[in-house]
Amino acid sequence: MSRAFPHDIPAAAGRVDLVGAGPGDPGLLTLDAAAALRDAEVLLHDRLIPEAILDMANPGAERCYVGKARSNHSLRQEDLNALMVARAREGRYVVRLKGGDPYVFGRGGEEAAALAAAGIPVRVIPGITAAGGCAAFAGIPLTHRDHAHRCQFVTAHRRNGSTGLDWDALAAPRQTVVIYMGLNPLREICAGLIEAGAPAERPAAIVEHGTWPGQRVVTGTLGDLPRRTADLTLQSPSLLIVGDVVSERRNIAAFLNQEAVDTPEHSAEVANG
Ligand SMILES: C[S@@+](CC[C@H](N)C(=O)[O-])C[C@H]1O[C@@H](n2cnc3c(N)ncnc32)[C@H](O)[C@@H]1O
Repeated sequence: MSRAFPHDIPAAAGRVDLVGAGPGDPGLLTLDAAAALRDAEVLLHDRLIPEAILDMANPGAERCYVGKARSNHSLRQEDLNALMVARAREGRYVVRLKGGDPYVFGRGGEEAAALAAAGIPVRVIPGITAAGGCAAFAGIPLTHRDHAHRCQFVTAHRRNGSTGLDWDALAAPRQTVVIYMGLNPLREICAGLIEAGAPAERPAAIVEHGTWPGQRVVTGTLGDLPRRTADLTLQSPSLLIVGDVVSERRNIAAFLNQEAVDTPEHSAEVANG
């Protein structure tokens, strides 16, 4: 396989890989991620990792679900860190499988630091983050010469509960803003952007279950997206994409040869504008 790691540490020492699983479609796993799953002795995985990916793991691996629902943390972060350290100290190869990319809004930094502080060899295998996966599978380019020369990834979730977003920076023109965990505060986000000077006609989209077989994409504008999504009972995970690039979907989606692109039975597409 591409990288044996680390060469100079005996197998008995144990180690942990923080592995990005990508946004859902198993085809978006990296080769290193697939190899890590195959070799795992302990698999600690998040919520929202599809069965098709979990099925790729070593069937003999000890499995533990350590994921987090929004208000239902199944394991406190400190306890999860301690579990990884304990299993590695038993001399085992621990794969900590995380949605998307471990270092994008996924506490991968905290986990890597905790492992390093405990003297456990750690490797981070990057994954395709939700923004890249959802954009590709929804037919929405994140940058485009005609529309956006900058792209910001932000999260609407903060430790103290308020979004704490920098509205002026997010409302500026000629950029794409991708908002993770933006479904629940959708109304607040659209209103905040308009109040900060973004036109109510600015295109926006929600991608629900991006890259999964049941992906739904709802397009609209900052002014009408909350209304358009109101009756659809959209679920997590959902990603909000704001910017003129969303209008490009019209030119791309009809011939997008990608499995999760909205089929009539899955589509919640509403005409943009
Ligand atoms: C805790 S963050 C983790 C992000 C992850 N580390 C990544 O790089 O994509 C979870 C949020 O990512 C977004 N997300 C992750 N996977 C998604 C998917 N398949 N479709 C839509 N949004 C997704 C949603 O906004 C979700 O609430």
